[in-house]
Amino acid sequence: MSTPRPPYLPGDRSAHSETERMIRVDQAGEYGATRIYAGQLAVLGRGRAAGAIREMAEQEQRHLAQFDRLVAERRVRPTALSPVWHLAGFALGAATALMGERAAMACTVAVEEVIDGHYAGQAERLGATDPELAETIAAARADELAHRATALAHEAEATPGYDLLSGAIKAGARIAIWLSERI
Ligand SMILES: [Fe+2]
Ligand SMILES: [Fe+2]
Repeated sequence: MSTPRPPYLPGDRSAHSETERMIRVDQAGEYGATRIYAGQLAVLGRGRAAGAIREMAEQEQRHLAQFDRLVAERRVRPTALSPVWHLAGFALGAATALMGERAAMACTVAVEEVIDGHYAGQAERLGATDPELAETIAAARADELAHRATALAHEAEATPGYDLLSGAIKAGARIAIWLSERI
């Protein structure tokens, strides 16, 4: 008689602490996203792209509310770094917006590409172990991909120095993810 292979094997981090880390980092990321858009709107709030940015910002607020709820219901310790993401997110949004609307959109493309990969990895690790979390992640991920498409439609890739800017933002986003899973 063979039993089905468990999703987590002995010696793995426990499923419980693994999903806690996922919720912690996702809440941190969605919080950071709201701060990026707040920074962009502080600069571009009256610009041509303000409507599109505001719409994305509202969806980030919804994602954040969903992860806030999971943090509360499951008593997950939130990241201790939210004061950092409060400032760093806003600064990233405002700085790219000051470079222009296309650079702000390049920021969105870069962040969303990292987040898409991050959510895809989480979905794979979760499998069928936690449908509630998996559905929350899948819904947010679909919105993030739509944000990426919106930003590309706003000529993100026409930003001067796009590859350099995009690479730097992606590196920063990956560091933020790494830290928020742990701290
Ligand atoms: Fe989001
Ligand atoms: Fe997004």
